[in-house]
Amino acid sequence: MTDFGIGILGTGKYLPERILTNQDLEKMVDTSDEWITRRTGMKTRHILNDGIPSYMMGAEAARLAVEDAGLTPLDIDLIIVSTEVPDYLSPSMACLIQKELKAENAAAFDVNAACTGFVYAMTIAQQFIQTGYCRYVLVVANEGLSRIVDWENRNTCVLFGDAAGAVVMGRVDKKYGIRESYIAAFGNLGHNLTIPCCFVSEEEKMKRREGKERTIWQDGSEVFTFAVRAMAESVKTVVEKAKSTIDDVDIIVPHQANLRIINGAAKRLEIDESKISVILHETGNISSASIPVALDMESKKGRLREGDTVVLVGFGGGLTCGSILMTWGK
Ligand code: ACO
Repeated sequence: MTDFGIGILGTGKYLPERILTNQDLEKMVDTSDEWITRRTGMKTRHILNDGIPSYMMGAEAARLAVEDAGLTPLDIDLIIVSTEVPDYLSPSMACLIQKELKAENAAAFDVNAACTGFVYAMTIAQQFIQTGYCRYVLVVANEGLSRIVDWENRNTCVLFGDAAGAVVMGRVDKKYGIRESYIAAFGNLGHNLTIPCCFVSEEEKMKRREGKERTIWQDGSEVFTFAVRAMAESVKTVVEKAKSTIDDVDIIVPHQANLRIINGAAKRLEIDESKISVILHETGNISSASIPVALDMESKKGRLREGDTVVLVGFGGGLTCGSILMTWGK
């Protein structure tokens, strides 16, 4: 046991200005606002303009998070970036953001746990702070998903958007911060959601149009079934690990893949839907950026109060899932 807690000192987000509505999508593929709204809950998503590298979103979210924490980039010891769409395989997104921020004292690396990446990255950051190896860790989720979408495939193109979210983690008063975390992987289910990169198998080619081999493909209903179960079970697991109860939870901030997934998990958890943060109507699915972007929105709205029990929960590609239970406050 340490005499300090490990928590969030500041938050930031970046959503590109350009907005793609359901009505815009109606002009691109055979879909309708009615279908997208009823099947997903989504209305708009933000899209990064061509010619701008995706890491610029993460750098801006990170700059705001560092400012919100009352620190400067030189205070940061480590930058961990969660992404499943890096601009380069090397340098890492974390190094690109380090350069942009001029965070010259920070080590930097990326993690890829798809939509669960932010929960994985926060859990990694927690270990570095717990051991005393780092004082301040910047965790950024940077997802330019529009760049790996086949814009002629209605099964996927209506779902995804671009965004980045960031938090600065460090020591907080011992009554606040992370109480428990849980991360898991199910590699045997990974074939249900794929984005080929340096190798494209014949099987993966068959799932996509010619020339679109490196786009996202998923078996929507398989992932949907996994997601509802994973979201509910991950929340239950972390609540049990923390020796708490669902009734004690003030707010759940989940990955935003589909409103029906969130509502299905809420039903399994027997928790009031009003306790769940929902931003997907505005952002679409922004993979691992969902949780930090929602956290920043809720915190700026004053919906996260000191002492609140907050559960973060992610699920998605890999397949992976994970959750964090924390007491909000510094
Ligand atoms: N507009 C109109 N019709 C459509 C569209 C669309 N955009 N997309 C699919 N349809 C059609 C299908 O072709 C199908 O038609 P058919 O019956 O004639 O074949 C019909 O609608 C039903 O299709 P389903 O795939 O069964 O639709 P479903 O209700 O399951 O919704 C969805 C699909 C939204 C993809 C859902 O399955 C889902 O949300 N899955 C989980 C996604 C997820 O959580 N991903 C996780 C993380 S993502 C990441 O890691 C980046």
